[in-house]
Amino acid sequence: MNLKCFELTMEDGWALLEMARPEKLNVLDEGVLRELHQILGTLKEQKIKAVVLTGQGKAFAAGADVAAMAEMDSQAAQDFSRFGNKVFQEIEDHPAVFIAAVNGYALGGGCELALACDLRWASTRASFAQPEIGLGIIPGFGGTQRLPRIIGATRAKEWILTGRRYSAQEALAAGLISQVLEPEVLLQEATKLAQELAQKSGPILAIAKQAIASSGTGVKESQGETEARFFAQCFETEDGLEGLQAFVEKRAPLFKDR
Ligand code: COA
Repeated sequence: MNLKCFELTMEDGWALLEMARPEKLNVLDEGVLRELHQILGTLKEQKIKAVVLTGQGKAFAAGADVAAMAEMDSQAAQDFSRFGNKVFQEIEDHPAVFIAAVNGYALGGGCELALACDLRWASTRASFAQPEIGLGIIPGFGGTQRLPRIIGATRAKEWILTGRRYSAQEALAAGLISQVLEPEVLLQEATKLAQELAQKSGPILAIAKQAIASSGTGVKESQGETEARFFAQCFETEDGLEGLQAFVEKRAPLFKDR
């Protein structure tokens, strides 16, 4: 497979999948999502049972590509959100267990990518946020649906409505992640976990994932569609356009409440 945005190493029953654009803080654009979709198919074909997903450099992923979004109209934004939701849903529905090894910034779409994984471990250097509100938009890759399920509506509202950034310890306290590790051992420990999972029965791991998703913690396709519609609405407002443009111009946004 000829990959541009990821590096994939497949071992016996498990794989390491690294987001490999550290100079761009592993931002998520359509090309990245397409490649991820393709990789998910390969992992399934190869009957991989556990995948460690991490980012190269100082970010896990710094979110969706704001510069690309600043160019989008409402229809393009809806399509982008719909596609992101679809690919992240493929992770949730995938037979393999996905372990997010969050090495640094997990912001916006990066946080949502971690939310779509089954297990989340982070380094002490990691930080988490859904900062979209400051850009005049809302999360568009499942964050409005998965975050409340994972950390509860009370905390999720604080996260999404303030856009504040939280440390790994705060994410642990919120139940977003289940382990905080020193940066130099994160990948090693996540790999050990993947190797442990690869010793289990693949079909039974997949059934366990499906059973847990049916408990109400999983997201349905229609919920992603609903989020994509709300996401698109932001692009019909002046504030949405201003927030994204302000990021590109490296200035504070001037919201006019319209
Ligand atoms: N989309 C597009 N470009 C992004 C980006 C994003 N989400 N996040 C970072 N970048 C770009 C920056 O614009 C910068 O580009 P430049 O080198 O051409 O100027 C480059 O990546 C490096 O980022 P920089 O801000 O210089 O690094 P930093 O270490 O000072 O700060 C962050 C890191 C993550 C705190 C900061 O980049 C940030 O706040 N990013 C946006 C996060 C966000 O809002 N994500 C949600 C999007 S929905």
